[in-house]
Amino acid sequence: MPETFDVKLEKKTYRPDPSYLEGSSMGDWETAYGRFMDDPEGFWAGIAGELEWFRTWDRVKEWKHPYARWFTGAKLNITHNCLDRHAAGDRRNKVALIWRGEEEGTERMYTYRQLHRLVMRFANALKKMGIKKGDTVCIYMPLVPEQVVAILACARIGAVHSIVYGGFGAAALHTRIRDAKAKIVITADVGFRRGKRVPLKTIVDEAVINASSVEKVIVLRRTKPLLELISEMEVDFDEVMEGMAPACEPEVMDAEDPLFILYTSGTTGTPKGIVHTCGGYMVGTYYTSKYVFDLKENDIYWCTADPGWITGHSYIVYGPLAAGATVLITETVPDYPDPGTWWQIVEEFGVTIFYTAPTAIRMFMRFGEEWPGRYNLTSLRILGSVGEPLNPEAFEWYYHVIGKSACPVLDTWWQTETGMHMIATLVGEPMKPGFAGRPIPGVVVDVVDREGNPVPPGIGGLLVIKEPWPSMMRTVHGNDERYRTYWNTIDACYTAGDLAVRDEDGYIMVLGRSDDIIIVAGHNLGTAEVESALVSHEAVAEAAVIGKPDPLKGQAVKAFVILRLGFEPGEKLKQDLIYHVRMGLGPIAMPSEIEFVTSLPKTRSGKIMRRVLKAKEMGMDPGDISTLED
Ligand code: WT7
Repeated sequence: MPETFDVKLEKKTYRPDPSYLEGSSMGDWETAYGRFMDDPEGFWAGIAGELEWFRTWDRVKEWKHPYARWFTGAKLNITHNCLDRHAAGDRRNKVALIWRGEEEGTERMYTYRQLHRLVMRFANALKKMGIKKGDTVCIYMPLVPEQVVAILACARIGAVHSIVYGGFGAAALHTRIRDAKAKIVITADVGFRRGKRVPLKTIVDEAVINASSVEKVIVLRRTKPLLELISEMEVDFDEVMEGMAPACEPEVMDAEDPLFILYTSGTTGTPKGIVHTCGGYMVGTYYTSKYVFDLKENDIYWCTADPGWITGHSYIVYGPLAAGATVLITETVPDYPDPGTWWQIVEEFGVTIFYTAPTAIRMFMRFGEEWPGRYNLTSLRILGSVGEPLNPEAFEWYYHVIGKSACPVLDTWWQTETGMHMIATLVGEPMKPGFAGRPIPGVVVDVVDREGNPVPPGIGGLLVIKEPWPSMMRTVHGNDERYRTYWNTIDACYTAGDLAVRDEDGYIMVLGRSDDIIIVAGHNLGTAEVESALVSHEAVAEAAVIGKPDPLKGQAVKAFVILRLGFEPGEKLKQDLIYHVRMGLGPIAMPSEIEFVTSLPKTRSGKIMRRVLKAKEMGMDPGDISTLED
């Protein structure tokens, strides 16, 4: 961990039109935060009370460091709040989901009533296959409505879903299926990406070898002729739905029953299966969708993430649907067939809330203003950002070019582990480029030194969370020890693993990770996972990976590789290694640079000192190298 350090702070402030604050459901930050501080449990009980429960809670919170239980004794089903609540009332014919495929003209819409019925039919299909409450189901699908149906169907019957992003390779999928002991894998024949087909099913075929927990593979077949199913284990998505009744009582879940596992990179080679539970997660994602994004009944809400990441779980599926929003999803990428696609979608569907990642914004900056300039973006009301720091240049561009200097820009800081937004500038509040903002009401954040003492404004330190919150992760699947380290590194605080600095007004600027996690295009990668992928190649004896600043992706992966005897460095081998990582972990983990070396800087105990490599790479002072071996 670093010492504290000085940071030069930007001073610019933008003030949104007062109508934003006047119309906002949350109101101003001071008052709302004060309301929370006066009665934290009452605050959360008030939010929870806006939702429907089968049985109410005995206590809002029970905290025995480092374990929290929220809404104890309460019974619920999150899908009742995402579907039944709306389908039984005024929103029954409201569009819940809009899907736009890659080819123009491929679009589908589902009302709340329709989505509800589809989910219940698929839930019945899962039940018929023997899936019960507590079983794990792995979802490895492209971004199609059927994925949302599969997710909600699991939640309907109390099955724990583990969604794996469709961009991951076979080795990454295999590790996740095995760790979660998934009984069923739900996939598709292909995903469409930039006019090409991504053969998801072929990757599943490889990933399920030696994954004995898997009993069935459900395949959504999207292309003609239909992909042949090759074993007894495999069933067709539409066929299993056939004849299923559109009626399935929701499983009665305890607030603390698990809802899903989602893997995130760790500082060791194995990813961490973050476990979220039903009650607190529902309250946290509903609250932030409704109040941080200030959702209104007529909003057309588009979050460009994939359900394979926490952003998709919380802000495509559960939060916005619990709040009764119209949610747009699309299989398109930002620059195909041209860099105007997303702005065309905004215009065509009249998107009002747009939530994306800094890496996408920086990509659009490169393509130039003429692309968004071709479309009418005046429907936009609120812009959001997530995944890595929104640098001031990207903020300015997003604010002026996309938001026409009128839309609040919400830079939301949070993590897979937090489940919901933690820091953001509320709609209508003054915005400071480069700063995510203040903790949202309900959340207590601090910036501290290694001993846990708060550091003054302008001094960088570690970002910590001081009080439990409803949608916090409950454990790391099968490895509670790893969970405890989050709460034991700094006394009585949750350590987020990020560096941050505060200004005089309490606005927080997040500076990046303090550990061996690299954020590439908003995707969280553990150096260790990439290193072990490299070492699994026959030519590699040892590897060390660092994140190097990249103007587009935020960070890019650079790998230092020591070869085994008998292997010669060369361009061909570099390409082989890149391909090897790509096949194992997926395109996001691909090194953009490989350097062959004959030794790596190590501590006397043999730990690779990545920060020394990084400093050397960037021509910087490596700092304290007293523990370096030679
Ligand atoms: C890490 C969490 C939360 C969903 C997407 C990523 C970085 C995330 C911001 C932001 C600065 C950010 C942090 C965090 N991060 N949002 N607004 N400003 N950094 O979830 O994969 O769990 O990654 O992403 O470093 O710790 P994740």
